[in-house]
Amino acid sequence: MDRIRIVGGRQLNGAIPISGAKNATLPLMIAGLLTDQTLTLENVPRLADVGLLQRILGNHGVDIMVPGKRPGDTEHDSQTLQISATHIVDTTAPYELVSKMRASFWVVAPLLARMGEAKVSLPGGCAIGTRPVDLLIMAMEKLGAEIEIEAGYVIARAKKGLRGGEIVFPKVTVGGTHTALMAAVLANGTTVIENAAREPEVTDVADCLNKMGAKISGAGTSRIVIDGVAKLNGARHSVLPDRIETGTYAMAVAMTGGDVMLEGARPELLQSALDTIAQTGAEVTSNNHGIRIKRNGGGIAPVEVTTEPFPGFPTDLQAQLMALMTRAKGTSHITETIFENRFMHVQELARLGARIELDGETATIKGVDKLKGAPVMATDLRASVSLVIAALAAEGETMVNRVYHLDRGFERLESKLARCGAAIERVSG
Ligand code: UD1
Repeated sequence: MDRIRIVGGRQLNGAIPISGAKNATLPLMIAGLLTDQTLTLENVPRLADVGLLQRILGNHGVDIMVPGKRPGDTEHDSQTLQISATHIVDTTAPYELVSKMRASFWVVAPLLARMGEAKVSLPGGCAIGTRPVDLLIMAMEKLGAEIEIEAGYVIARAKKGLRGGEIVFPKVTVGGTHTALMAAVLANGTTVIENAAREPEVTDVADCLNKMGAKISGAGTSRIVIDGVAKLNGARHSVLPDRIETGTYAMAVAMTGGDVMLEGARPELLQSALDTIAQTGAEVTSNNHGIRIKRNGGGIAPVEVTTEPFPGFPTDLQAQLMALMTRAKGTSHITETIFENRFMHVQELARLGARIELDGETATIKGVDKLKGAPVMATDLRASVSLVIAALAAEGETMVNRVYHLDRGFERLESKLARCGAAIERVSG
């Protein structure tokens, strides 16, 4: 199993290219199931989760073509996927595949919408809590699906097709909103989604679906209206930049000090996180090329932050912010309201010398002058990158074990950081 070795204490200076967003790529690939024509996705990040979803879609009969390198391409260029679901040969997504990646459960809606049936394994729990799918099921039922749960599988049927309806989410859910959108685009009649997730990735998926011929309005607001159409066609769409990767590197620079341009990043995708980073004392500016983060001298100021659905501070940056706060001059508080139990990184940060107390959903972080390198273990995607941020500022060597979590969501993390001067390398084996 690969590990990452980091020797802390160096500033970051230079430029980091921001990849396409993982959390938009996955539902966009799944949206390819809705048409028998080719959906071409550009700016797709090279991530383990993308490879895994390619396998899952392949099991349904989807062909995915990845054109090779072109003259002038560099290792930093993203990939293009040509997704063709001409014939869907299997409407079952088995446990062995779905259990490896939660988001693959989302195939249920397009399979149901196009084929009138789907049998998809329940995803099961994961390191950051129970993460139920009751609201995804509710959304499909509101559009006329009949749903049974049998032997760990969700079996969804709509033999006469789905019909438009009103879906009111009692809680903001990104996966629920993707599911509702993908079910509604081919339904007969109009669907209204109330309390929809406003995350930029939802808007990106809706934009792509509209290019495919869907009639969706209001994406990016909490009320989305969809007029169902009989058929969708192929399209070409470029994935939006990854706001979580952007915020992660921004916090890394705020932690180590230095001056880094996050190329291709868009401030409107993470304004709340950028405001928080500015409060910690880093200078945040942006132009047409991206977002520049600078901190020279001066300490890290403590902050009070609560995670919220977009446009609030994202839960996917909570662990990274906590890593930054371990070195703040004073005490900070971070409250996690989206996922219970999303504090797996606390024990590992403590191994580096962090002082963090947990009380229910709130963490109190008392900043320390120094962190010291130690062996640590990556537990989930965002938690593992928080260990990298802490290690970049820790004295001596940190070895991050189980880095396959990082590879699920961060493209060439070590090479992006090393190019900016970090002492970081992958140790194979
Ligand atoms: C997506 C993101 C994930 C991010 C999360 C919140 C992807 C691939 N993943 O996950 O990185 O952290 O949004 O921004 O895009 N809930 C229910 N019932 C349901 C569904 C959700 O109670 O049927 C709850 C969840 O337990 C959680 C909250 O709703 O407390 C939000 O979850 P949701 O937005 O659905 O997260 P995901 O879509 O799984």
